Amino acid sequence: MIIDQANKLRVLAEQIRREKRGNGSGRKRKGVERASFKGAMLTRTIAITSGKGGVGKSNLTVNLAICLARLGKKVLVLDADLGLANIDVMMGLSPKDKTLQYVVNGRKRIQDIVLEGPEGVQVIANGSGIQELANLSDVERRRIIGEVSNLEGKYDFLLVDTGAGISKNVMSFILATEEIVIVTTPEPTAVMDAYGIIKVVSQQNRDVRVKLVVNMVKNKTEAQEVINKIISVSQRFLGIVV
Ligand SMILES: Nc1ncnc2c1ncn2[C@@H]1O[C@H](COP(=O)(O)OP(=O)(O)OP(=O)(O)O)[C@@H](O)[C@H]1O
Ligand SMILES: [Mg+2]
Repeated sequence: MIIDQANKLRVLAEQIRREKRGNGSGRKRKGVERASFKGAMLTRTIAITSGKGGVGKSNLTVNLAICLARLGKKVLVLDADLGLANIDVMMGLSPKDKTLQYVVNGRKRIQDIVLEGPEGVQVIANGSGIQELANLSDVERRRIIGEVSNLEGKYDFLLVDTGAGISKNVMSFILATEEIVIVTTPEPTAVMDAYGIIKVVSQQNRDVRVKLVVNMVKNKTEAQEVINKIISVSQRFLGIVV
């Protein structure tokens, strides 16, 4: 488990860089059949998610991507906050017709919409305020995941910034990755919702590797307290170690 704060992203990136790849345990999946990113040999696929909105997922994704790029890694960011995306804005990009919407409606292939952001980070942007993307069918979601999978081998990291909550859109992207970073703040509602995500994920896929980031904390002690609380509740009620 990695415990960190948004202003210590460099440390997080360094830890991720050093951490040995597991023995593939993250890819053994139980539960419902679903689409997965391939987890190509050299590509780590990581979803950045949260129960509560506005806790800093997208900022974490962007900063982590930039830190990893500065370490010489090839990074692809998928903005999977379908319908309400904003990674492009944060990265100073103007995607115009290069968004997932054009892939969903069959007008473009995924490779034609990849944008280049700061430090060479590659980005698959999304539209904002687009209901069509907010209400994708299972088939459409699977197609997006399949198309992105075809790009995976070119990258060291695929970072997937999801929306908040446990909607089908969010869950399908979370469950398609090998690793999940759950972002929370010390706010009790955010902590409860982080636990909610752990609960839902554990019901679907107990082998996935979950990491927690406590954002917007006063100090490390406060972050540690939040982490301890989540671990304790997860062990007690779900029988798992986060
Ligand atoms: N460590 C931090 N300190 C101060 N402000 C922060 C920090 N992290 C994020 N923010 C601010 O919090 C707000 C929400 O951040 P962000 O958009 O990254 O969250 P999100 O979880 O992606 O939100 P959403 O659920 O809407 O996608 C932004 O205004 C951002 O600048
Ligand atoms: Mg966001």
